[in-house]
Amino acid sequence: MTDGQNMHRDELLKEIGISPVWRLRDAPQAEIAVAADTAAALTAREPAAPVVARGGDPGPVAGMDWPALKACVADCTACVLHQKRNKTVFGVGDENADWLFVGEGPGADEDAQGEPFVGQAGRLLDNMLAAIALKRGANVYIANIVKCRPPGNRNPQPEEAEACSGYLQRQIELIQPKLIIALGKVAAVNLLGRDASIASLRGQQHAYRGIPLLVTYHPAYLLRTLSDKSKAWEDLCFAVETMQRLQSAALAPI
Ligand code: URA
Ligand code: SF4
Repeated sequence: MTDGQNMHRDELLKEIGISPVWRLRDAPQAEIAVAADTAAALTAREPAAPVVARGGDPGPVAGMDWPALKACVADCTACVLHQKRNKTVFGVGDENADWLFVGEGPGADEDAQGEPFVGQAGRLLDNMLAAIALKRGANVYIANIVKCRPPGNRNPQPEEAEACSGYLQRQIELIQPKLIIALGKVAAVNLLGRDASIASLRGQQHAYRGIPLLVTYHPAYLLRTLSDKSKAWEDLCFAVETMQRLQSAALAPI
């Protein structure tokens, strides 16, 4: 194999160490690729800390528009995570997206670049999106529970998630997504306001402030736990079905 450009895509992915590849039957170019040989490079995250009740009051950010909200996050010192951050990671994508994906918090790459999911987990997230014919920025918004990197990639503490929750709440009010996908336990427990395992939460429709919400595994977890990637695939298929149902309900005559 000498000419990368002429390689079949599967062979190319294999060559760069990303396999196996999952395909959605009626979207042949779509795929999820899991970088098995890079899994070890990812820092193990600890189980989620107990959640505190999510504040119902967005406080000072209530009613803010996008520019004001972005400026507020950029200067935020509301929790200790501001002390060691390089860049705040506000969120990225289509500000009118139907799909909102919520992760946990920035890692080292995100902290350096100021954009969510740009490291290895991000590459898998992009592949997961591609598998269901979605693309970062096109009808998709990506955000995190906390906007500043927890040192050493530890889980955000409940008080940090709480301090940051008003920003995400305001982002969600502005975006008005049709469906929220919580990626991993930290996102799920903070958005749902109760502690439960991903295994018990996935496969069912939940809600965040009246917006349908589904739960699946975090891409960084999937990079370490390849055996659960078929469940993540089921979750993505369930997400597509749910979105189709929500869209047809929106179109149905009253
Ligand atoms: N993990 C997350 O939860 N969010 C990111 O932005 C990157 C990695
Ligand atoms: Fe502010 Fe959120 Fe950063 Fe804490 S994590 S300093 S609340 S932006």
